[in-house]
Amino acid sequence: NAPKVFVSRRIPEKAKSLIASQCNAILWEKDEPPTRAEYLEKISGIDGLFCLLTDKIDAQLLDAAGPNLRVVSTMSVGYDHVDVKECARRNISVGYTPGILTKATAELTIALLLATSRRLKEGIRAVETGEWGTWKPMWLCGQGLDGATVGVVGMGRIGYTVAQCLNPFGVARFLYAGHRNADAEAELKAEFVDIDKLYSESDFVVACCALTPETAGMFNADAFRKMKKTAVFVNSSRGGVVNQEDLIAALESGEIGAAGLDVTTPEPLPTDSPLLSLKNCVVLPHIGSATHDTREAMAVLAAENLIAGLKGEKMPSKIDD
Ligand code: GLV
Ligand code: GLV
Repeated sequence: NAPKVFVSRRIPEKAKSLIASQCNAILWEKDEPPTRAEYLEKISGIDGLFCLLTDKIDAQLLDAAGPNLRVVSTMSVGYDHVDVKECARRNISVGYTPGILTKATAELTIALLLATSRRLKEGIRAVETGEWGTWKPMWLCGQGLDGATVGVVGMGRIGYTVAQCLNPFGVARFLYAGHRNADAEAELKAEFVDIDKLYSESDFVVACCALTPETAGMFNADAFRKMKKTAVFVNSSRGGVVNQEDLIAALESGEIGAAGLDVTTPEPLPTDSPLLSLKNCVVLPHIGSATHDTREAMAVLAAENLIAGLKGEKMPSKIDD
């Protein structure tokens, strides 16, 4: 008897056929998510769930699935949307997709950093609107990486890869906070510092940390006040690590220089958000891992996690609780 699973969105073909070959799959084949009510109805009686980072996996949802649910597999490296403790309590294994999206996400983080520091949004707009009158010695100047100090908050897989890729631009010093990373210290001479030192000495502050109770809202007024007035703040982790009202105030008052955000609160960001009218803020629609190959690999790994978990085999990437 093939296990019954729900796949909550349209996913790459390769992952879909893998799931369909081993499971009785209920597919929600749309880019738009089901409503919460539709979701709760669809999952009734399932053994496994393939979900995304925008699906809130909480006790109510687990109740709606019922007692057969054994595996929750999210197609994401972040799992702040999953109540992992509640899953553990119910003996539900949770799979995720670390590693394979590291390079794509680091790449996008750097694209965002450069778009922000080198003022690409303003430049593109100037070309498109005809505001580009002539070559001006002091026009659209930004912060360079050569000789800069870069502070990485969260030197995990992604943070470390970001630092490695930025190094050839001539970064003078890497500071980092969070968990210790011996490789980054050996290879990049990255200095493990307290967060206040990171804020006050960094020209670039890059958030690559997971959203946890410890990191929620950590980038707040107090943090922005400690940063340089010219600091470029970049966030490609989760919107929830930032107090967004405080960030808006800091950008408006010149407490910091600029911000690049691939993640916001909420997502999508309402089009009337002050962040969008600030010229020193670049906002992207949560596309860190969005390369064709990476998204396919994430979906396939999430499918493999799901199938292995349902068979009672070792899942390739399981969250340890
Ligand atoms: C993307 O944000 C992910 O967690 O994979
Ligand atoms: C976070 O998930 C990381 O891989 O750094």
